Amino acid sequence: MTTIRTEPVLPDGVTVEELERLCVTLATEAARFIRDERPPRMGVDATKSTETDVVTVMDRRSEELLHRLIQQARPDDGILGEEGANVAGTSGLTWVIDPIDGTVNYLYEVPAYAVSVAVVVGDAHAQGGWTPVAGAVADPCLRLVHHAGHGTGAWTRPESDDGTEPRRLAVSAEDRLARTLLATGFGYAPEIRARQAEVLLRVLPLVRDIRRIGSAALDLVRVADGSVDAYAEAGLNAWDLAAGWLIVEEAGGVVIGEQESPGRLLTVAAGPELVGQVHALFTTQAAGG
Ligand code: IPD
Repeated sequence: MTTIRTEPVLPDGVTVEELERLCVTLATEAARFIRDERPPRMGVDATKSTETDVVTVMDRRSEELLHRLIQQARPDDGILGEEGANVAGTSGLTWVIDPIDGTVNYLYEVPAYAVSVAVVVGDAHAQGGWTPVAGAVADPCLRLVHHAGHGTGAWTRPESDDGTEPRRLAVSAEDRLARTLLATGFGYAPEIRARQAEVLLRVLPLVRDIRRIGSAALDLVRVADGSVDAYAEAGLNAWDLAAGWLIVEEAGGVVIGEQESPGRLLTVAAGPELVGQVHALFTTQAAGG
């Protein structure tokens, strides 16, 4: 199975490399911010789709920071953010940002959350209507940033330039479901969770094991660096997957959805030999969405 992502066409005067560097800078700044400025007693600021879908004050403040930095650096670009940023833009580029992916982990101080920053072409609001050009996922707990640009490979580097060479990422070569370590996640709505649990009842006996890490962006990075073999989840939004999608593909993997582009109905990521098998598991067995 091969990728279906279309070739991104950039506006004049901007390069993939430049955009990738900016993704790294922005994600790193916000990751440092949520780690270093975390208030001592942090609670839930608000809830969104359901009582379990929480927002902390730091989700909002991290998005405000990213919004400000993007507008300083590229005032004509659009912005779409998890916490409500929605700027139309005129350049043809849109920044798709998740200021804290893994908010529940962040709230409970489980060290698996990230800042995800991607820049895309096309209509970022439309399922299947956009293509990532560059992206970065910064992990404030491990002080690492994972990044890719279209055609530039997928890389991990330290948050601070300490002279360590960036490490190139490559997906696992696993090709058998029975030996697959499969990451997954759950939506926030109870009825969707119930369906997702039913799917897992059938999937779990067929794979090596399941991991629920709690951050879709980090799940995708784990596929890219081969520390899980595959990832599948229904219900993701553009900001959860935009940077990770590109990082997986630049690491030699494939990311697909229910029919074509990954998104709300389904996102499946794995190496080329495995992705079709995982996709079949989640589509033929009534995955929730
Ligand atoms: C969530 C996380 C989680 C996934 C959910 C996402 P958030 O993002 O990525 O792992 O299972 O589907 O909504 O709400 O923490 O930004």
